[in-house]
Amino acid sequence: MIDRATVDRILDAVRIEEVVGDYVSLRRRGVNLVGNCPFHDEKTPSFHVSPAKGICKCFGCGKGGNSVNFIMEAEQLSYVEALKVLAKKYGIEVKEKELTPEELTQQNERESLLIVSEWAAGYFNRMLTHSDEGKAIAMSYFLERGFNESIIEKFQLGYCLDQKDGMTRAAIAAGYKEEFLIKTGLTIAGDGYKNDRFRGRVMFPIHSLSGKPIAFGGRVLKTSDKTAKYLNSPESELYHKSKIVYGIYHARKDIVKHDRCFLVEGYTDVLSMHQAGIENVVASSGTALTTDQIRLIRRFTTNITVLYDGDFAGIKASLRGIDLILEEGMDVRVLLLPDGEDPDSFAKKNSATALRAYITDNETDFIRFKAQLLADESKNDPIGRARLISDVVKSISLIPDEIKRTVFLKESSRIFEIGEQVLYSEMSKIQQKRAAEIPMQRPVQSQNISANAGSPTMVEPPRDIVRPVPLEEIEVLKYLIRYGGLPLYGPEDLPEGQENPNVDVVIVGSLDEDDMKFTNGLAQQIYEEYKLQMVNEGFEPEKYFLRHENPAVCMFVAGLFADDKKLSRSKVNDEVRNVPRHLFKIVPKVIFELKDQYVKTMQKAILDELTGCTDEDEQMRLLGELQQLNAIKTQLSARLGGRTITR
Ligand code: CTP
Ligand code: MN
Repeated sequence: MIDRATVDRILDAVRIEEVVGDYVSLRRRGVNLVGNCPFHDEKTPSFHVSPAKGICKCFGCGKGGNSVNFIMEAEQLSYVEALKVLAKKYGIEVKEKELTPEELTQQNERESLLIVSEWAAGYFNRMLTHSDEGKAIAMSYFLERGFNESIIEKFQLGYCLDQKDGMTRAAIAAGYKEEFLIKTGLTIAGDGYKNDRFRGRVMFPIHSLSGKPIAFGGRVLKTSDKTAKYLNSPESELYHKSKIVYGIYHARKDIVKHDRCFLVEGYTDVLSMHQAGIENVVASSGTALTTDQIRLIRRFTTNITVLYDGDFAGIKASLRGIDLILEEGMDVRVLLLPDGEDPDSFAKKNSATALRAYITDNETDFIRFKAQLLADESKNDPIGRARLISDVVKSISLIPDEIKRTVFLKESSRIFEIGEQVLYSEMSKIQQKRAAEIPMQRPVQSQNISANAGSPTMVEPPRDIVRPVPLEEIEVLKYLIRYGGLPLYGPEDLPEGQENPNVDVVIVGSLDEDDMKFTNGLAQQIYEEYKLQMVNEGFEPEKYFLRHENPAVCMFVAGLFADDKKLSRSKVNDEVRNVPRHLFKIVPKVIFELKDQYVKTMQKAILDELTGCTDEDEQMRLLGELQQLNAIKTQLSARLGGRTITR
């Protein structure tokens, strides 16, 4: 946790154009800057940066926000992590909340393991590039396999000298504790000996999501039956092999950019694909794919293409992976390489363009993949055919989304030339069987009673963040956020003996009086947050929302004032000078329009519902609501002295 004061200090220091400028080359255009969007491929710049508001936005893909949001997206970090990156850039010291003694010990242990691993990665790399032995046999091994120096550097590849305890002694000489060498598994300790785990192997550091080496894979230089080809670090406080995928740190940006992740089997597959220019690739390395690994990938995309060897083992691994991926609600495609090839060998034989083309031409969704197997393996075998179809249906039944299930069942029906109904009943059989097998895992959520309690004056409105925000809601928020802290009347206009409340007090009072809701979810969220914040001394609404953690909020609020730049300089002055003077006229009007719009929307919704309604009780209820709305409407115009508001 970072305390509020530090957060403010960071946010006061950041300049959005400098933050974005580290990633995008920006050109000035009017008061803003523009460049090519770093979040999607484009040739004409649609990424806009507003130094005045401290925010950026891509008009192509919609991504953007304030400086923190930008770093979160660009580096795929959490809010706090992004703040730390910015603090570092601007030389601001970050004080974190104090830890309990247990937390401290645990953190210290983790830190110590991290430090040792980091040192080891550097040491192995130095041995590879600078020792005679490393250069002679390990470097030449990598180069012979076709890996170039830049890929070796990028992935911090290394070599562990072929000595009993060369690394262990070097580490201790450099001041690292034996305890941590053993806990990371770099050193194996036994009766009277402390040996290097990875002696004589080329080293592949496994990086955490934030790029720190947390474990290693070591490969022998010559495969033989005597030792395992690959040896991996054991589980530790740092390294849980079922929770990390190899290459995620180097891949995450491109996974987001292409909205797809290639999943391969081995370290060398990842390296070769990178070298061929395909960087959105990770490997499950050393374990069968796990749900945690899939969830890690799902933080960046919901699309996975499994790229396994075309041999039997590869096919089996693909099949198992597919079901796990489907179960996590992700879309999965499969690409089998020609028999005898793995992504490593295949990428080396083909140019980047050919590789990409091969992938696009040959990747198939999982049904087709299984259907292909059917065609190959069980051409004339009805039992095999039946088993495969039922297998496909079983996979489909794992998909959490019903619409997707339906689409896939339809497709299977076409491919296998089997009636949809047959497949449906097969699927419900499977689902029933599974329901019987698994005891209720989660208790049924109890209904949120308080949400329905009482009878508010108005009907709960349909909320939908995706729908555009009605103009009237935008107007109210605009006055709330820009002028909320100003008194309603200017000094000359205040009638004798009249109170002079602030604009926000007037707006909130009036909306709450009628239990008004914004029909747009985002607008409602901003309104509620405003209400919570307005009691705080020194609340600056515009600044507060432009610095909001949620990029949607911050871009929405920036958009409220987007028309400013279209006004000429004199008009801007006009607005700043004049609007506050007329607030007492304008504010009641925008409130009225909001309520009027709301009533109309609700009336229409109820009328629509009435049309399709056959239940008499329900009809009566709807009519009652309609009456209520009419009453509010009458009140609305009465409050405005019966004046008709013209638009
Ligand atoms: N693996 C492992 N232990 C082994 C063999 C394999 O942990 N004894 C893991 C490694 O992460 C390896 C992956 O499984 O990268 C795939 O194995 P394999 O296809 O045999 O290795 P390749 O990646 O093809 O390695 P190379 O090209 O170096 O032979
Ligand atoms: Mn290989």
